[in-house]
Formats: sequence, C-alpha cells, structure tokens
Amino acid sequence: MDVAPAAAPPSNGPQPRSPLLAIRDLTVSFRIEDHSVTAVEDVSFDVYPGEVLGIVGESGSGKSVTAMSILRLIPDPPGHIDRGSVMLEGVGDLMSLPHDQLRQVRGRHISMIFQEPMTALNPVFTVGMQLTEAYRAHFPVRRREAIERAVEFLSLVGISDARKRMRDYPHQFSGGMRQRVMIAMALICEPRLVIADEPTTALDVTTQAEILELMLELKNRTASNAIMLITHDLAVVAETCDRVLVMYGGRVQEVGSVRQIFHDPKHPYTVGLLRSLPSLAPRGQRLYAIPGNVPSIEEMPDGCKFCTRCDEVMDICRTVEPPLIPLSDGRLVRCHLYQTPAAPPQHAHSQVDEAVVADDHRPSPGDSPRSRSNAPTRATSDEPATTGRADESPRDGGP
Ligand SMILES: Nc1ncnc2c1ncn2[C@@H]1O[C@H](COP(=O)(O)OP(=O)(O)O)[C@@H](O)[C@H]1O
Ligand code: SF4
Ligand SMILES: [Mg+2]
Repeated sequence: MDVAPAAAPPSNGPQPRSPLLAIRDLTVSFRIEDHSVTAVEDVSFDVYPGEVLGIVGESGSGKSVTAMSILRLIPDPPGHIDRGSVMLEGVGDLMSLPHDQLRQVRGRHISMIFQEPMTALNPVFTVGMQLTEAYRAHFPVRRREAIERAVEFLSLVGISDARKRMRDYPHQFSGGMRQRVMIAMALICEPRLVIADEPTTALDVTTQAEILELMLELKNRTASNAIMLITHDLAVVAETCDRVLVMYGGRVQEVGSVRQIFHDPKHPYTVGLLRSLPSLAPRGQRLYAIPGNVPSIEEMPDGCKFCTRCDEVMDICRTVEPPLIPLSDGRLVRCHLYQTPAAPPQHAHSQVDEAVVADDHRPSPGDSPRSRSNAPTRATSDEPATTGRADESPRDGGP
C-alpha cells in the first residue's frame, strides 16, 4: 500500500503540516455479476486548508468514485469501500463515523457540487424551502433567520430578485442558474471543504467561466476553506488550482503544484494529457493523442495500469506496479522511470516528508528518467491552456 501525502503545498497556501483532510489507502470495489472488481486502489492524498486541489484524468480514471467515497456516498451494493481512512481535522475518520454523525458532516463540514444540479435539488420543493432546510439541518435558528440567510446566499451566487425567486421550483431556473442554486446550497453552511465533481461540464463555455469564477470568489468571501475540483479539463485546472493530482486506472499517478505539473510533467500519462492539449500543439502539426482507451476496471493490466498505452513502457512495467515515488521537488510520481536504487521505498513516511520540504535544487537521481522524448511544449500556469479536455483525446491512433 502506498503512502502518498501531498506534494509541496502551494507557496501562497497555508501551513503544510496539518491537512484538513487526509485520505489514506482508500480502496473501493464494485460487485459485477458474481465477482468483485477494484475501481480505486490505495488512493492517498491530503487536502490543505485554503487550497484548490485539482483532480484530473480521463473518464473512468476513478475521480468520482474517490470523491463519492469520501462522504460514503457510494451505493452499497454494488459498491463497497474495502479499506482506507479519511481523516477530517477535528472530526476523525469518516469511514468509521456512525451514520447520524456522518449526516452532520455532510453539508456542514464537507459539501458536494455535482455535474447535474438535479441530483442535489428536489423538483417538488421550492428553492427557498430547500435552502432554508439545508441551513436549519445544521444550525438551530428560527425559520425567519434561515430565510434571510437563503436570500443572502441566492444573491451571492448572482440570482437577481432573490427574495422573489425563493418561491420558484428548480425547473423554473435555467441550467446555469440551477447550478448557481446548487452552489448556494453547497455553501450556505460555509463548509470547510467543497468537493466539486465536474461542476461546469454540462454548461456552455461562458456560463462555465462565470460559475468557476463565482466558486473561487465565494471561497474567499465566505469561510469556505478548500475546494477539491474534479475535472477532465486541464485548462480549468491551470486557471483555478494550486495543486494537481493526476489519476489513472483508479490510482494516483502524479501529485504536484500546478506549476510543476504544467511546466515539467514527469509521469508519461501526465505528459500525454498535456501533449494532447490543442493549445500546446505546434502549429500545423496533427494533435497528439494518447494511444488506446482507458481500460475498464475488469480489464486493468497487471503492473503499471498505464502500461498498455505508454510510449516508454519497459518489461518491468507489465508485471510490477510502481510505488508513488517522491522526487526532490516535493512531487510524487508513480512510474518505474523514476525508480532508482537511490529512490526511497514506498512506505518511507519520513523520506516522503523529507522530499516535501527538500531544497528545490538538490540533485536527485530519481528525477532523471531514462528518456523524456515525449515531453510537451510546456505550458505555464501564467499562460494557461485554453481548450484542453482530457476526455477529448481521440480514442485510437497515435501521434
Ligand atoms: N456503479 C458502478 N458499477 C460498476 N463499475 C462502476 C460503477 N461506478 C463506477 N464504476 C467504474 O469505476 C471506474 C471509475 O469510475 P469513475 O470514478 O466514475 O471515473 P471518472 O469519474 O474518473 O470518470 C470506471 O471504470 C467505472 O466504470
Ligand atoms: S511505469 Fe512504465 S508503463 Fe507505467 S508510466 Fe512508467 S514507463 Fe510507462
Ligand atoms: Mg466522474
């Protein structure tokens, strides 16, 4: 099992040593017919107060299963959380919390924004009723006070004439407006963490930008502490996140700051994702596509989960899954190219911690892969890619 504390925290972020949320060895499986198949295995990472952590990867990489498992929202059956812990600061391990206490955590400490607002909004109650009840579920206030709070949050998310619109039902709002209502609902209790799973994917580009801007603005204006932003859109990550976690095959493959990931991706999968960004392709050249498809959980290869699609695959990759290896710049990467005798073993807590605080310039043999022939033209977080979507990688053919 890998231990994967987060890579170096954002330089503008809070103290690195006390995460808001610490996920360790989270492993989730699904019952398919008469057998059980692992969808997410030994996922470990931290979320720090005040940061925006991006989680990226193609469809089927395990992003949503990870997110839903944090609040134990995976339907069981067919899903099952096999092992792991999710420590929420000041609360404890969400995996072993009694149901009544878990309900108190949902919405109050951690809330979720989904791609489809109607998964969170009830069509038969007015928006005002849903907002006030969401607030009163966690705060013992009079109805009138909850109504004022709901009006305030509806206005905050940009719903004009908020007091009047409290009486409307969700279907009386447009898609973008419904998404705003859902954000108001997610933030009304000012949770410490908002998990947003593809919050803007279903919206048009202009509304997408507005909603993301709104989420960041509200993060600063309310006491909401951190955002975990799940998306297949690397452009969104470049523009909004402090750190990035790249997932593939139900595993964490690389974790680093936005700058590290976009300037100097290390994992061949991260390199492939960035190379397939239209905005990074050299002019006149055909766009790169990672060969093949994301395998289904029943067809995951042994060894490195990316070995069937990797340009740099070696014999060992097909049989031995690499651990998450800490590099000298604080990031973590799961790839044999970075595993040298000098690299510490996967269980080395202390060595991982040392890497997180290491001097950026300290030479490390683990940082030198055999070859970096497919390194992309590098983007910077200052010059974000504008149109890249991991899901858009054509499904067949190479470069
Ligand atoms: N209810 C389910 N039954 C069986 N397999 C599932 C179920 N939900 C998710 N999976 C599988 O788990 C893997 C990860 O899915 P998911 O987390 O939704 O991916 P992502 O959010 O990255 O697109 C996929 O292979 C998906 O097919
Ligand atoms: S471990 Fe091997 S197959 Fe996996 S990403 Fe690294 S080089 Fe590619
Ligand atoms: Mg998903």
